Amino acid sequence: MLTLSIKETAMSQAGSALRDPAGRAFPLPELYERVSRHVPAIEWPALAPDVEAILRLKRERNAVVLAHNYQAPEIFHTVADIVGDSLALAREAARVDADVIVLAGVHFMAETAKLLNPGKTVLMPDMGAGCSLADSITAADVRALRARYPGVPVVTYVNTSAAVKAESDVCCTSGNAADVVRALGVKRVLMIPDEFLARNVQQQVPEVELLTWAGHCEVHERFTPADIAEVRDSYPGITVIAHPECPPEVVEASDFSGSTAMMMNYVTEKRPSQVVLVTECSMADNIAVANPDIEFIKPCNLCPHMKRISLRNIRQSLKTMTHEIVVEEGLAERARRAVERMLAVKPTQTVSPRQAA
Ligand code: 13P
Ligand code: SF4
Repeated sequence: MLTLSIKETAMSQAGSALRDPAGRAFPLPELYERVSRHVPAIEWPALAPDVEAILRLKRERNAVVLAHNYQAPEIFHTVADIVGDSLALAREAARVDADVIVLAGVHFMAETAKLLNPGKTVLMPDMGAGCSLADSITAADVRALRARYPGVPVVTYVNTSAAVKAESDVCCTSGNAADVVRALGVKRVLMIPDEFLARNVQQQVPEVELLTWAGHCEVHERFTPADIAEVRDSYPGITVIAHPECPPEVVEASDFSGSTAMMMNYVTEKRPSQVVLVTECSMADNIAVANPDIEFIKPCNLCPHMKRISLRNIRQSLKTMTHEIVVEEGLAERARRAVERMLAVKPTQTVSPRQAA
């Protein structure tokens, strides 16, 4: 596994911050300061005009930007109004008062925001930002599962289309999956479509039999126990934190597992001197900004879908009011029910969304 120490990178860039080679001050220096560990000084003058335009367009359109924890630091730390994991973004989307929501994340997140706040205009900067889990299952597949397992409730990961949610009893995220299963109070549950998430949650709810589906996250399925062993060999004493979309053997070899927000909370509370986040690359960059004393060893698995979102297409999205998320109302009503049932489940672990920028 290819790794990179962020602390070293940051130190090697120190000294170049806030001035261009001619000694002129950068545009938006206070925003640059937030990302100076990750955005080379020479690149900022090319990014700053997009940041400036997005800040202006947000005011003109009465818009907010919701960004997932996997977004690149120059989005996460400069133009995002609310950042978080899928659960926090869903909760916050429901509460948004602004007229427009731009989702700096993937398609299912924008669809969930539209389901929960149908009166708002929800924009996706790039409609191609999908998810291998969402692509792994269709509404017809869920109907077939129901026919095969009559009476078994269907818990569907939010990483799915609205059509799949509409066929489900309740949704879950990686932050509340065990709580949702327990809340059902039954002996057998279909937890779809992420096989690894279901197998990891099974460890937390041994009293319930979880049946699943063969869907996988193309980013997390690539991690192996050998990767963890390699990191532990190279960095003795390192703390290893894995996302529950990783294979169970990887989670088992780790010190902690949780949603992206839980990972962030763990690091900020426990303050390990050296940590590896076994998940998407940008997570470590984003936490590192607020925690310069912690050394993050980065496993470099990028989510190609999340990385389709850029400052440039967020700007374009706000300028042209594209691409608008539309969900047919009959289907939306059924899908919304499954998401709202999830939001009604009392969490045993609370993770607060963070107001950004
Ligand atoms: P979280 O809900 O943990 O943020 O995860 C979303 C996701 O897509 C992870 O791959
Ligand atoms: Fe989907 Fe995996 Fe990308 Fe998350 S990281 S959006 S689960 S493909």
